[in-house]
Amino acid sequence: MKRYFIHTFGCQMNVNDSLRMSEVLAKMSYEPTPVPENADLIILNTCAIREKAEDKMLSALGRYKPVKASRGALIGVGGCVAQQEKDRLLKKVPYLDFVFGPDNIAKLPDIIGRVAEDRARVVETAFVHSEEYVFPRADPETSRGKVTEFVTVMKGCDNVCSFCVVPHTRGREVSRAFPDVLVEVADLAKVGVREVTLIGQNVNSYAGGISFAQLLLRTAEVPGIERVRFTTSHPHDLSDELIEAFRIQPKIAPHFHLPVQCGSDRILKMMRRDYTVVQYLERLEKLRQARPGIAVTTDIIVGFPGETEEDFEMTMKLTEQVRYDNQFSFVFSPRPKTGAALRENEWGPVPHEVKIARLERLQKLQRKISGEITAELVGSEVEVLVEGHSRYDASKRFGRTPENRTVNFDGDAPAGAIVKVKVERATPNQLAGNQVSVLSLPTVEPLPVAPATSPFHVVAEA
Ligand code: SAH
Ligand code: SF4
Ligand code: F3S
Repeated sequence: MKRYFIHTFGCQMNVNDSLRMSEVLAKMSYEPTPVPENADLIILNTCAIREKAEDKMLSALGRYKPVKASRGALIGVGGCVAQQEKDRLLKKVPYLDFVFGPDNIAKLPDIIGRVAEDRARVVETAFVHSEEYVFPRADPETSRGKVTEFVTVMKGCDNVCSFCVVPHTRGREVSRAFPDVLVEVADLAKVGVREVTLIGQNVNSYAGGISFAQLLLRTAEVPGIERVRFTTSHPHDLSDELIEAFRIQPKIAPHFHLPVQCGSDRILKMMRRDYTVVQYLERLEKLRQARPGIAVTTDIIVGFPGETEEDFEMTMKLTEQVRYDNQFSFVFSPRPKTGAALRENEWGPVPHEVKIARLERLQKLQRKISGEITAELVGSEVEVLVEGHSRYDASKRFGRTPENRTVNFDGDAPAGAIVKVKVERATPNQLAGNQVSVLSLPTVEPLPVAPATSPFHVVAEA
């Protein structure tokens, strides 16, 4: 049997696409290996969101080159860099065998066949825009033993944020029909999955036959499903209907990732984000009223072209005002063909040292706020869905609260159980404590906890 190794970069969409690739390869009688040196086929599933992500891909390719020399492994690049660079990537990397975009995963048998039999170098990057796009359906058996899973509800993005490469690499929005989503969720529940995260680059503009709020409510009603999450949503689509869903359905987990990007209206306009800070805060206030205690996280870009010290101070102020549970912040990285990259010189690039200094200040502030929020939880009891062993200490358990806070704790509950944990210690990003009681047991006989080496090496570093 031939063996494959997939190295995954980027967001959840890519992690999910890697799963789909492994399903296609299994049908071609390939089996996974966790060791690239033993592979006959190496695929890099790439991310283009920031320049650093691309550099990481190139250095990984360099590491895998000797495997081609030693055992004739085929090497392919998929994902967002593939979509963006197309045949240019073959020119840049002479030992690369094939390049395929995110919409061409189903074509892998054909692509690999042409490479292996015709010794051709192949590029497949056509978009499948319309309803013809078939959302590859996960084989629920590959999720047996897992507690939490991702379910794709849409692909692409129709927004035009001026910094962002995603509309170029993932194409137009296509929503998956809601009955298909619900069937997949029900299949996953049957093999023991208790929490699902509905994913897409812009989920609340979902249009698969019902509104996104309706989709969340219907998903929450699937027997066996205890928690429903989603990611990511754009603030301008945070509808009253969605807020209402949070009010009426407790299974919709109390965590909202609402990327704001910046605290200055002037910059938001240049980013083409379609909302003002005041509008953002109004929406958020409404959400917090509908679901008191909801955790809110965000993404921030620091050093967007033309960002002044004053603009940056507004981001700091917004951070204080919202008191985010957590923030993912990045320095602006100009991406090919995006509006902000094309106009960076006109708007005024922010010097690298200034960007880094601002990022450090913002991250320090956020760590302080996160630390204050988690410190308040010490002594309280939190509800945890057990996902398995702790990564740091196999004698401990690991899971998450409804607010998506990670918890390592002493206890004996199996994966899939929901337990009460008394919080004894907290860091800005983690809680630790002891199991107090078991609230519910897994719905399906638990499997031994997944081995440490996963079939493909996931480096989620968007
Ligand atoms: N669809 C999601 C964003 C996906 S990209 C949304 O709209 O929220 C994840 C994050 O990467 C973005 O929220 C943004 O903060 C950051 N990002 C995107 N393009 C970037 C760039 N060119 N430079 C720096 N950070 C960027
Ligand atoms: Fe990119 Fe998100 Fe904006 Fe779409 S909504 S263009 S994915 S930042
Ligand atoms: Fe995801 Fe990176 Fe592409 S964030 S959509 S893999 S550019």
